[in-house]
Amino acid sequence: MLSTTFALLAILVTVSNAALTRRVTCPDGHTVSNKACCALFPVLEDIQTNMFADDNCSDAAHTALRVAFHDAIGFSKTQRSFGTGADGSIFIFAETELSYDANLGIADAFNLEAPFIANHSIGVADFIQFAAAVSLTRCPGILRPTFMFGRVDAKAPAPDGTVPEPFQDVKTILARMADAGFSPSELVALLASHSIAGADDVDANFSGLPFDSTPSVFDTQFFVETLLKGTLFPGTSGNQGEVESAVAGVLRLQSDSELARAPETACFWQANVDDQLLMAFTFRQAFAKMQIVGQDVSKLVDCSEVIPQPPALSASAAKAFFPPGLTRKDVQQACPLLPFPNLPTKAGAPESIPSMYVSTLQKRPPKTER
Ligand code: HEM
Repeated sequence: MLSTTFALLAILVTVSNAALTRRVTCPDGHTVSNKACCALFPVLEDIQTNMFADDNCSDAAHTALRVAFHDAIGFSKTQRSFGTGADGSIFIFAETELSYDANLGIADAFNLEAPFIANHSIGVADFIQFAAAVSLTRCPGILRPTFMFGRVDAKAPAPDGTVPEPFQDVKTILARMADAGFSPSELVALLASHSIAGADDVDANFSGLPFDSTPSVFDTQFFVETLLKGTLFPGTSGNQGEVESAVAGVLRLQSDSELARAPETACFWQANVDDQLLMAFTFRQAFAKMQIVGQDVSKLVDCSEVIPQPPALSASAAKAFFPPGLTRKDVQQACPLLPFPNLPTKAGAPESIPSMYVSTLQKRPPKTER
């Protein structure tokens, strides 16, 4: 009797598992667990082939990631007028939002993405976040991002003042992020994005100045290098929101420098140093949260399976180091709880890191003011 019951149970479990894993075949032959996700494959193919083309974690990928943050952060837990989060408002109301100082340079993202948005029938909010998730998969070291689909597009622009600025103090930045639903540790996790980023507009005379010495790799060098004593400017001095960096060619934002040293964030910051898995994992979680700010999650479909697998980062490339000529003595450690990890110094003479656009200069669209 008992064995019959077990046998019946086993059959039931098998049948329900089969129902759970039933797959749908899309018109183009891909299989997915929810047919809504089929709409993403033509977009994926188009942006992989034509928008990112041979951009391997460079200009287009960086641009697509930054705009996703600037769109999503237009949200407040307390003030409805701050916007509806990851809602596409930054492009839908481009005339308004791209005129804000904090969005200087986002016009590059608009010029890049608008023709693709026009060619596909998914919403603007979804397109921005989908392009950002796909852009990340061009960067070795990333853990495959998730992607939820079905956002509601904005009905109104976000007001000025929702995007943190590099010259703001830590308290102001943390308060803005908290108001949008992000803790200090989640902000630090999100700022791993500056490991694959740089500035075009902070120094009006120089574009493509990276935030660390390895801007095409999602590694922990950004967290190491921002904690080194600043000694130089990569371009001109006196720019608002910029402080001295430790490596020639690398630009350090004032906000990154201060967050690396502030009591609220210093230990989260330092914890990322030489801990590739921690950085990649916490970024993945915080990025997933950022992508759905302001949206009703119960109405979104999980289409993570559409996102391609990122290239792996070799163990040797994931190992953090002090840039040539620098050592532990140059660290301005701010976390009182943990010793700074032992790192090797990269061999050779001090380097000057080239602009991120040296190899892609010809392909870069003409620089737009806004
Ligand atoms: C305290 C919060 C933040 C501040 C103050 C900040 C500030 C900045 C500034 C000033 C730039 C340079 C823009 C330019 O001159 O071209 C920049 C670039 C960038 N930021 Fe942030 N950021 C913050 C958080 C984030 C977050 C959360 C993300 C993504 C999740 C992000 C992604 C990027 C990327 C990818 C770039 C490079 C863009 C490009 O190369 O075109 N940032 N950020």
